[in-house]
Amino acid sequence: MTTSTTTIMQVGYTTIIGYTTIKRCVFTLMISLAMSIVIAPAGIGNAYAAGDVKEGSVKARACQICHGKDGKSTKEIYPILAGQHAAYLRKQLQAFRAGTRKDPIMNSMAAELSDQDIDDIASFFSGVP
Ligand code: HEC
Repeated sequence: MTTSTTTIMQVGYTTIIGYTTIKRCVFTLMISLAMSIVIAPAGIGNAYAAGDVKEGSVKARACQICHGKDGKSTKEIYPILAGQHAAYLRKQLQAFRAGTRKDPIMNSMAAELSDQDIDDIASFFSGVP
């Protein structure tokens, strides 16, 4: 007990810095915890909010020729993608890519897409009013 008290007194400065650092760490941890609690519920409704809408708008240009500008198809054989749920779009694109949903055009379109592309495109179309 005596020894440890002396040690603390000797390295008092270090101890204070160490304590402050720990305090700062705990504070940062609490802030991030609090933020995740605040942010998490917003993410529940739209689990794919992670997609980058701006990137998606660029990548979605390849879809325009059939699905119309911003996914607002005017031709009956091409589905409207604008305003569709991101989770649904993501699921369909993954299914087309995997070949479990079959359509010759969409299977080859989706084959080119990465997971990130799918997230971005899904976020973009779902956000179109
Ligand atoms: C050459 C025309 C063409 C292009 C280009 C095209 N699609 Fe399609 N897409 C179709 C057709 C046709 C269907 C309907 C397929 C079916 O009947 O199952 C479809 C269906 C879809 C569906 C399913 C919609 C639903 O309601 O289930 C999604 C999602 C989709 N396309 C996304 C895309 C994306 C994203 C791109 C661009 C990367 C794209 N498409 C490019 C023709 C096209």
